[in-house]
Amino acid sequence: MLNAALARFPRLELVPSPTPLEKLERLSQKLGRAVFVKRDDITPFALGGNKVRKLEFLAADALAQGADTLVTAGAIQSNHVRQTAALAARLGLACVALLENPIGTADRNYLQNGNRLLLDLFGAEVELVANLDNADELLAATGERLRAAGKRPYLVPIGGSNALGALGYVRAGLELAEQINKASGEAFAAVVLASGSAGTHSGLALALEHALPGTRVVGVTVSRPDATQRPKVEGLLQRTADLLGVALPAGLKVELWDQYFAPRYGEPNAGTLEALRLLASHEGLLLDPVYTGKAFAGLLDGIATGAFAGNGPVLFLHTGGSPALFAYHPAGT
Ligand SMILES: Cc1ncc(COP(=O)(O)O)c(C=O)c1O
Repeated sequence: MLNAALARFPRLELVPSPTPLEKLERLSQKLGRAVFVKRDDITPFALGGNKVRKLEFLAADALAQGADTLVTAGAIQSNHVRQTAALAARLGLACVALLENPIGTADRNYLQNGNRLLLDLFGAEVELVANLDNADELLAATGERLRAAGKRPYLVPIGGSNALGALGYVRAGLELAEQINKASGEAFAAVVLASGSAGTHSGLALALEHALPGTRVVGVTVSRPDATQRPKVEGLLQRTADLLGVALPAGLKVELWDQYFAPRYGEPNAGTLEALRLLASHEGLLLDPVYTGKAFAGLLDGIATGAFAGNGPVLFLHTGGSPALFAYHPAGT
């Protein structure tokens, strides 16, 4: 049913599906619990990551509307902005990016390296802003300015997280349900992921509850605490279901883990860095200091504290982000 609803929306095909579902053999042995990873970090576009799945729908809409410029916003080290700028380049569109410095750092690596360096390569036009507290208004004002200059802008919200963008993770959730059914036959204890602008969490949770009811989806907060993240996820869940014309499944629960987020968005803590090092040293697999490092720290702690019932494997949705490693070195890694 969801598949049919999704098929009504035009989509650019950028992610060959499914992305791999891999067992982390060495880490599973060390932890005494099987851990699997869905590799959305290797979506084959501009160093990978989750945003390209959202952009498949958003950019198709931009093209349908005759846009010539993608306008978006994020942190200086935003993975979302990097992938949006890359896609604009591939489609022959301009890209205007409003960037904030959410941690107020003067570190040259943060200001110039990692994702920020790639924006220059993709030819994005960057505007630094004091903050993105009113991002939608800033985006709208930028759109107006571009229109007045004769351009045809298309506004992509922070993280690509409106209902249309979230369809990328509805699709990913259906893909994952099929992989779980087919490949492993395992009863996964939970799917763990980073919950930021919420499109990934909302889309995936909606699809999994439809396709594999009862599957536990744990969102680890990375951008804001539970009290403000929860209404964001719930609101987007509802808007995504409305866009698709389906009901929200009655059993759908939003689960957020808040204790791996400190001190704030964009700043790793000791557990983040430990998780990052553990996965790198045992599996040769890279997390990032802002999103997946915190989410994986939650997964590790959840295993250590018995927060995943039974002994079924735990599945981590790897949403990418490794270019930011070069922006946080040496303080962050
Ligand atoms: C690497 C990475 N993981 C996870 C997320 C969070 O995804 P979402 O914003 O859809 O909640 C982001 C968002 O920027 C990200 O860059």
